[in-house]
Amino acid sequence: MDEDTGPAFRLEPADYRPSPPPPEVRARYGIGLVGCGGIARGAHLPAYRNFGYRVVACCDVAPGLAENTAHEFGIPFATTELEALLARPDVHVVDLAVHAAQRPPLVERIAAAGKPILSQKPFALNMADAEHMVWACERANVPLMINQQARWAPAHRALRRVLDLGLLGHLYSVLHIHRGFQDVPGSWYVALEHFNILDHGIHFIDLSRFFTGAEPVTVKAVTTRIPGQVAVTPMIYTIGLEYAPSAELMATLHFNNIVRAPLHEYRWYLDGTLGSAWASPRELVLQLADGQPAQRFALEGNWFNEAFGGSMGEMLSALSEGREPATSGRDNLRSVRIAYAAVESSESGRAVALPPE
Ligand SMILES: NC(=O)c1ccc[n+]([C@@H]2O[C@H](COP(=O)([O-])OP(=O)(O)OC[C@H]3O[C@@H](n4cnc5c(N)ncnc54)[C@H](O)[C@@H]3O)[C@@H](O)[C@H]2O)c1
Repeated sequence: MDEDTGPAFRLEPADYRPSPPPPEVRARYGIGLVGCGGIARGAHLPAYRNFGYRVVACCDVAPGLAENTAHEFGIPFATTELEALLARPDVHVVDLAVHAAQRPPLVERIAAAGKPILSQKPFALNMADAEHMVWACERANVPLMINQQARWAPAHRALRRVLDLGLLGHLYSVLHIHRGFQDVPGSWYVALEHFNILDHGIHFIDLSRFFTGAEPVTVKAVTTRIPGQVAVTPMIYTIGLEYAPSAELMATLHFNNIVRAPLHEYRWYLDGTLGSAWASPRELVLQLADGQPAQRFALEGNWFNEAFGGSMGEMLSALSEGREPATSGRDNLRSVRIAYAAVESSESGRAVALPPE
């Protein structure tokens, strides 16, 4: 960036890359991992190693998996029994990385043991389960956070920084364009009903809340199956989010997850009354309505795995500060509600109103 001609905005990696909490916080909390599957071994544990977190125990019902995981990541205790992990006084927070369908009874047992929970997303496969798990944790006075770790991905934090500085003025449009391919035979996600909205799409629904700081009042969604697809339900959507008229804001989320051409495209466009910012995972562009040229910033870091260090860092910081974590279970009910409304709208063809707060 040319300092003589460019506007004043500067963006440094420290402004948007997640960093771990201080060493004394990391040292205070032992993490017990429940579910040693693909995401735990591929993203959670490598990120926790990089961020210096203490994973003291791991558990999986699949024979041998917890032992192998413990061996690979130097975790001192492995078990197939949840209660054995919960009984350990050195487990201060449970990292719950099982599938949503398996979650409710486990959340109840963990909450009953008084251990704070960082739960993988999607939080639940229906609203009743989501509300019940929030209630179970609140009744037990146990902190609950949902791992919407995309909020800690560098590109998303860089956009949030632009918004926090007020550079765009009034934000009136949020647009997400995402093109990829996940129609993979034999994978668990093609067998999961409404995967593209409820499971993968929940990231982008939650991010729309992260960027706007507002709650929609109506959800409209369009989806379609395509010839020869493997997935049980559509892998493409456009979701329109309507806000109260006083918000003077709209959001559009488009995710084609069954693109046959070998491309992967990912962008957020944020438009405000003073200018626009757009980002891919690798670059953020800012162009204001002040006649200055656009500023381009190459972004460092990545969503996988760095953001997972950010979300666990938020959990540990919230525990040490005695506050509710960002993306708490109660907060996440709003994202889950939007996702279910989108499914309902796509099936009924009608706009779905969300209940008032
Ligand atoms: N945040 C993200 O970006 C992201 C990415 C991928 C997956 N996920 C989510 O993470 C979750 C897990 O996905 P995955 O791909 O790792 O699945 P996976 O099937 O590879 O792993 C799940 C593991 O949970 C274990 N398990 C099931 N019941 C258990 C119990 N009662 N006690 C202990 N272990 C138990 C299984 O044996 C399995 O090893 C899903 O909800 C998925 O949607 C999130």
